[in-house]
Amino acid sequence: MAYLLGIDIGTSGTKTVLFDNAGNAVASSTKEYPLYQPQIGWAEQDPLDWWHAVCETIKEVIYKKNIMPQDIKGIGLSGQMHGLVMLDKEGNVIRKSIIWCDQRTEKECTEITQRVGAERLMQITANPALTGFTASKILWVRNNEPDNYEKCRKILLPKDYIRYMLTGEFATEVSDASGMQLLDISERKWSSEVLEKLEIPREYLADVYESVVVTGKVNKKAAQATGLMIDTPVVGGAGDQAAGGIGNGIIKEGLVSTMIGTSGVVFAHLDRPMIDSAGRVHTFCHAVPGAWHVMGVTQGAGLSLKWFRDNFCIGEMGVAKFMNIDPYVLMTKQAECSPAGSRGIIYLPYLMGERSPHLNPKAKGVFFGITASHTKNDMLRAVLEGVSYSLADCMDIIKGMGITPNQVMASGGGGKSKLWRQIQADMFNSTICTNKSSEGGALGVALLAGVGAGIYKNINEACEIAINVEAEQNPIEMNVQTYSKYHKLYQKLYIDLKDSFELFEQ
Ligand code: XUL
Repeated sequence: MAYLLGIDIGTSGTKTVLFDNAGNAVASSTKEYPLYQPQIGWAEQDPLDWWHAVCETIKEVIYKKNIMPQDIKGIGLSGQMHGLVMLDKEGNVIRKSIIWCDQRTEKECTEITQRVGAERLMQITANPALTGFTASKILWVRNNEPDNYEKCRKILLPKDYIRYMLTGEFATEVSDASGMQLLDISERKWSSEVLEKLEIPREYLADVYESVVVTGKVNKKAAQATGLMIDTPVVGGAGDQAAGGIGNGIIKEGLVSTMIGTSGVVFAHLDRPMIDSAGRVHTFCHAVPGAWHVMGVTQGAGLSLKWFRDNFCIGEMGVAKFMNIDPYVLMTKQAECSPAGSRGIIYLPYLMGERSPHLNPKAKGVFFGITASHTKNDMLRAVLEGVSYSLADCMDIIKGMGITPNQVMASGGGGKSKLWRQIQADMFNSTICTNKSSEGGALGVALLAGVGAGIYKNINEACEIAINVEAEQNPIEMNVQTYSKYHKLYQKLYIDLKDSFELFEQ
């Protein structure tokens, strides 16, 4: 039997899934690690925590299924995008990784815009300078920690650091490289113009491949640490969003997905690189060779619900532990007790600033409209709705670019919740479907590995075999009306509060 391994290095943890060659998950293991927030708006993780989680989860899936490691024919890596990993000349990590949701680099974004020019930056990287992207994080280290920058010899993305640990190779692939803001998006290669203007040496960066290409093979040291077979091929893989796109079959124009993990994303396939001139959504290379994608990103999607859980649902967590169920199941049951519109409470999910559509690192979270008659149930539902309003904002921009979704596939942890899917159906006024496999990113990169290992002819064939659309949910007309009214208020609240966010520093 041939197996494929998909490894997803996420923000809350690493998930490793073993798939058979029909795309069925046969074993899975997840290991969590901490997120460090040394200051408000900062977010860091330790790359060695990722590596240890990868080793443990690989060992566990091999052990659970009791398979022969030589039956694993290929490995695909997916992961949180944009994070900065800096290595010294010995290949050691210099400092903790500054990750995607970190918001400290506003000054460096201004510096990037000045050095490259706003128009050229859009033309080359297809995006305005953003605090979330890697280039501004590199400049921040150079401006604020010159000793660390001095030691730096290699700059990698999170999943590419894991590739380095597995294979010893410095390699990346087009979808994740797009989020560094150093790639020429149309040409699918590093931009020498941007690198020169930002004074970042080309040799610090990894070589860029298409996502299905084998970039290296598991070496002896990694084989000992993971239980994998020496020489198992590792393909390029993809950033978590493009990986999720493949894992949900978003490989043709007209197909759109939403993903609610720590962040929330509306993702659409593009046959050519189309750009929102205001830069409110990102245009990146897709993991499908010769294709692109556009996506809107909500910074605090699942993060909002997790924040609410950790701070206000201690009781639910205790009960859930006792009942051996996921606390989110209980929390969703409570949210169901409140009607569409949360009896007038509106939640703005800007806990880590916001990307789409506002591009504002200073935006803050808000509960609006609370009265003495409201309950926790209303607040819980408001969190689910606030995140969905933000996704609806992204969807509207994508539709405005001329992309008409034939269907919307819901995925990620949030996509597993029937209530959250219904809220999305009502807000988008569109049918929402799910894939039978909920493995998203891990499945996507396992399929890419299958193409690289020659198990599938191409991505189309891989998706035909592995993607099975099921569970349709249709909009409920009364809720569509309610949300259309409240969405306007949600948008107005941001406009009304924008200046106040500027005043509020700590
Ligand atoms: C995408 C993005 C997030 C992270 C974490 O641009 O920043 O989706 O990849 O999941």
